Amino acid sequence: MHTLLELPYGFINVHLNKEFVSKLLTDLLVNGVQPPLVGPKRKVVVDFSSPNIAKEMHVGHLRSTIIGDSMCRLFEFVGYDVLRLNHVGDWGTQFGMLIAHLQDKFPDYLVVSPPIGDLQAFYKESKKRFDEEEAFKKRAYECVVQLQSHNPEIIKAWNLICDVSRKEFQKIYDCLDIQLIERGESFYQDMMVDVVKLFEEKGMTQLDEGRKIVFPPGCSLPLTIEKSDGGYTYDTSDLAALRQRIFDEKADMIIYVVDSGQSVHFQTIFAAAQMIGWYDPKKIRVEHTGFGVVLGEDKKKFKTRSGETVRLIDLLNEGLKRSMEKLLAKERDKVDF
Ligand code: ARG
Repeated sequence: MHTLLELPYGFINVHLNKEFVSKLLTDLLVNGVQPPLVGPKRKVVVDFSSPNIAKEMHVGHLRSTIIGDSMCRLFEFVGYDVLRLNHVGDWGTQFGMLIAHLQDKFPDYLVVSPPIGDLQAFYKESKKRFDEEEAFKKRAYECVVQLQSHNPEIIKAWNLICDVSRKEFQKIYDCLDIQLIERGESFYQDMMVDVVKLFEEKGMTQLDEGRKIVFPPGCSLPLTIEKSDGGYTYDTSDLAALRQRIFDEKADMIIYVVDSGQSVHFQTIFAAAQMIGWYDPKKIRVEHTGFGVVLGEDKKKFKTRSGETVRLIDLLNEGLKRSMEKLLAKERDKVDF
């Protein structure tokens, strides 16, 4: 027989004062769980989940969804005014190729809703063509520019594609009981024009092979705010979003729940916003709350573009199935509670 001393661990017994505990429990039973006293009411924007339209939501988005939702619940619990934003990737080059492919596959999409059941497969097909067919690539780029100039037919195609994804995302949010307001990159389109103008007026842009870049001091990489074809980027939409959250939403705190793979992006965005004088970090708290990048079995970053991702909905269903099997194996279904 082992004595406690031979084991690599032991026990620490803590005795709690009975009166103290009973007072605490009585208070809890009578008043419920009470939030701690915090200062004045604050407005908090939490940017979380934020999957990309036309791509499958994956396990990395699950982490953002759970962490972001938990933060929101805590902020709401202490009485803050919380804006839960789903900054979906609904704008950009990928739409060019999706729309160009839609035009080819479903030429009558304007009158008959295209039966795209599997948008992921549709995405893969269009990506393949984009990589292999020069003419298609060119058309895809033209579609992006037309989307940005609000050509009604192109906007219709874009909406159709977004709707397919939206329905898929909603299944996950329903399953996890997540409340979110969708406000994707497209919401900031018009504001992106202003963002570029503002940086230019202050002489804060440089030209780099036809691209307009912003290089805040102390940063290792610049932001591209306008591409050589006049299109905007992920950087431009994030600058516009930050500005809108500061000036229109009047947020006291802005939190981005995104994996650490995007740390440099956010640090550069925040530095650029401070450089142009949009906020003082002593007054407004802007944070990237990064979390570990989810790796695949090959120890490489879980990628959607490679195509072979585990679909989040399958992952959740598998988890449910396995836990049910475990419970049944333990005969928990025969136990009365
Ligand atoms: N859509 C991006 C992705 O899946 C995340 C967006 C995070 N939010 C933001 N404001 N950039 O990688």
